[in-house]
Formats: sequence, C-alpha cells, structure tokens
Amino acid sequence: MLTILSNLNNFIICIILNILILFKSELHAITEVKFKNEQYIKANFAICNKIINFALRKIIYMKIFAFAGSNSTSSINKKLVTSVLKSFPDFEQNLIDLNDYEMPIFSVDREKFGFPKEAYQFLENINNCDIIICSLSENNRNFSVAFKNIFDWCSRINPKVFQDRKMFLMTTSPGGYGGGNSMNLAKNIFPAFGGNIVESFSLPKFYENFDESKGITNDALRLELNQKILEFKQSLK
Ligand SMILES: Cc1cc2nc3c(=O)[nH]c(=O)nc-3n(C[C@H](O)[C@H](O)[C@H](O)COP(=O)(O)O)c2cc1C
Repeated sequence: MLTILSNLNNFIICIILNILILFKSELHAITEVKFKNEQYIKANFAICNKIINFALRKIIYMKIFAFAGSNSTSSINKKLVTSVLKSFPDFEQNLIDLNDYEMPIFSVDREKFGFPKEAYQFLENINNCDIIICSLSENNRNFSVAFKNIFDWCSRINPKVFQDRKMFLMTTSPGGYGGGNSMNLAKNIFPAFGGNIVESFSLPKFYENFDESKGITNDALRLELNQKILEFKQSLK
C-alpha cells in the first residue's frame, strides 16, 4: 500500500498527462479527420478510468491483518480487536484465530526438521496486508505462550516478522494495568522484528470498561481510543 500511495503522485501525473493529451487531440480535431479523433478520445478515457478505478480500489480496500495474541476461545483481546475493526469498514479485514496456527513448541532441535506450514501461513498473512491491528494478552507479565510460540517459529524464517507494516498495537486484561507489561515488552522488541508501531492503546479493567455490543463504555478511554484510531488512519494517507 505504501508503494501505491507513493506511486499516487505518478498516477496523478499520468491522469494530468492524459487530460493534456485529450486536450491536444481536441485541438487536433479541428484539422484532423473527426472519426479517428473520437476513437482516440474514447481510448484515452478508458485508460484514464482504469487507472483511477485501480488507484481508488487500492486506497479504499487497504488490507488489515488482525489478531489477538491469545488462544482463548473467549479471549477479551479478540473482543477488543473485533470491536476496533468496526472502525475500519472501508478496509479488507483478515481476522485470524491463533488456534489455527498451533504448532509444536519451538525448539532448535525441531527446526532442524523444517518449519510448520502454519508459520509460513502466518508470515504470508503479514506479507499480504497493508496494516496490522492486534491486541496482546498478558500471562505472568509476558506474552501468551500461544503468541510467543508463533513469534519464535516465524522469527526463524524471517527475522523481520512484522515486515515493516504499520501497526495499531493494543493490550487488555482484567487488571488495572491493562496488559501494560505485554505492551512495554512489545514496544521494546517489535521494532527489532520489523514492527512499525504507529499507535498503541491499553484497556485496563476490561470487564468494567467494555461491553460487547457498545464497545468501550468508559468515556475517557473511548475518546482516547477513537483519537488514536483517527491518528492511525491519518498516518496511512
Ligand atoms: C496463567 C495466567 C497468568 C496471568 N498473568 C497476568 C498478568 O501478568 N497480568 C495481567 O494483567 N493479567 C494476567 N492474567 C489474566 C489475563 O490477562 C486474563 O486471563 C485475560 O483474559 C487474558 O486475555 P485473553 O482473554 O485475551 O486470553 C493471567 C492469566 C493467567 C491464566
């Protein structure tokens, strides 16, 4: 997507060029055979339209790869991610479940026999996305085993696990720190693994501050999250 955005200037230049060509052909029409000129104009319009539609489709349907760093079937982090994804209706969304990426516990002995296909698939999800939205859970002031195992396997295939995708990073937990230890850890280490954390948000006391149908119920926290979502979207322009 970044490439497309950076190429947007080129698209605009192309469109301006096409308009200039059309204008030129209009002038030409005064002296040239009319029929030939009309065909030329139509062909230019078709190319212009194709370029505009392609650019718009790419911009409107940016791809989100989303996950909760938990394998719990009732994960509160997945609830938070699901709720935040509602603020991205114009984006293609790929929300995965870590249970579909369960692999043997990583070991340097096991990797000698090759890498599980799930590790490649997880990396492929990242490769195919424009942005990452995730919420990490916290177990014993650390990432969940489920997430850490995927992280370890993936890092052995590609040390730039997150492949420089812009990331909206969240954590939540029932406690007052809202998974702040996982957040601090992620902020410390993700950049070394290709993580480009653009915005971050921790939701404390999940069960007091979140309602599945309403989302975040605490006004100040909801405002903070919405502001960060807005700033994140602006960073994509
Ligand atoms: C073994 C274990 C350790 C935990 N350690 C922490 C912790 O260090 N900090 C915290 O805020 N919550 C901790 N919790 C509570 C989790 O945050 C809570 O279970 C939460 O629901 C996990 O997120 P999830 O529902 O997305 O899996 C722990 C829970 C378990 C089962």
